[in-house]
Amino acid sequence: MEYKNSFSEHTRTMHSSLIRELVASIKTVPGLISFAGGFPSPKTFPKQKLAEIYSQVITEEGAEVLQYGASEGDNQLKDELLKWEGYKHINHDNILVTAGATNGIYYYTRALIEEGDVIFCEAPTFLGTLVAFDALGAKVHGIPMDSEGIDLEILKKDLREFRTKGRKVKFLYVIPDFQNPSGISMSEQRRKELVRFALDFDLPILEDNPYSRLRFSGDELPTLYRTAFEQYRNPDIVTEIVSFSKILGPGMRLAFVKGNKNLVERLCSWQQKVNITPDCVTERVAARFFQQDLMQPHLEMIRSFYRPYLETMLEALDKEMPSNVMWTHPEGGIFLWLWLEERFNCDELFEQAKAHKVAFIPGSKFFPFGEEQYNCMRLNFTYSSQEQIQEGIARLATLIKSF
Ligand SMILES: Cc1ncc(COP(=O)(O)O)c(C=O)c1O
Repeated sequence: MEYKNSFSEHTRTMHSSLIRELVASIKTVPGLISFAGGFPSPKTFPKQKLAEIYSQVITEEGAEVLQYGASEGDNQLKDELLKWEGYKHINHDNILVTAGATNGIYYYTRALIEEGDVIFCEAPTFLGTLVAFDALGAKVHGIPMDSEGIDLEILKKDLREFRTKGRKVKFLYVIPDFQNPSGISMSEQRRKELVRFALDFDLPILEDNPYSRLRFSGDELPTLYRTAFEQYRNPDIVTEIVSFSKILGPGMRLAFVKGNKNLVERLCSWQQKVNITPDCVTERVAARFFQQDLMQPHLEMIRSFYRPYLETMLEALDKEMPSNVMWTHPEGGIFLWLWLEERFNCDELFEQAKAHKVAFIPGSKFFPFGEEQYNCMRLNFTYSSQEQIQEGIARLATLIKSF
């Protein structure tokens, strides 16, 4: 039985996350320097501390945490999360712990989207979310960004146009901090204007936040959720998802959703059906990680670990790239974005780069289907060594100059 005729329409037409295939296609190239992956460095995982805490948790609380737990998430962890973020106006009911941000994004989309509904997002945006939106039957439309984040004028114009045509634009998906893939952070002013606009036009915002704690320089910026609360006393328009994947390690599959209680309750209903509960052991381990005051020093360690890698890549780009190439200058996160002249097609360049033993992800993969741009690419700076970064950027520059 091959099941070919048994698959649902959504399963048959589902797009795969092309990044995995691209990364797999370069794995066997000897001596290749890759800026393609999106993995955090394993050197940032707090292995020793986690080993101790996992052992403590199983030994001391095994009877409880190896049992089925609460679908809403562990209360001890929620206490710590509320303290960590310092919100006094919300409580446990505003938080749902999930198995990674991907799960939270799925529940949110499942709760709001009907076949053919529209989701707006930044263009470019995170491919993993694009394929999830698509698989759930949404039509996704990208809004261009400038150096301060999403372009509000185009957002306003497009929202008006879509609504005039009777299209249901259900929400806006944004990654305001060290965006994947561009590395752009939305300016504080843009955050205020965006939230004001969302409130005025009843456009819910899904704020995906895996990177804001990975800031290496510059001033911390308020999340959209915080902006909605502090500026407008109206946080319900924003639902924020915070992931621990780039903080503790993606294998722990831990994140939390924060938002309006009614909405969180519905997301929890989805969690009951899909997952029953998040991983109870991991939740308690994370709670203890906070209780033992390990989070702050750990974050400082990650920041000082990554900072030189970003600096090395920015210096190498300055030194090696011809003047017709532009790139973003992030102050944190794990990616930056490069634009070439319009005549370049980075899908084609990817194949030639393999021969030059360097890899990146072609920018076209990060645009909604049918809205692709080809003269851009994503570079990850947290996986290769600093020597590899210098050498890899030099190889890439040689290839670009040869066009
Ligand atoms: C913007 C963005 N959202 C979500 C995710 C996935 O996060 P998680 O591992 O928590 O599912 C990633 C991972 O790269 C990401 O960059």
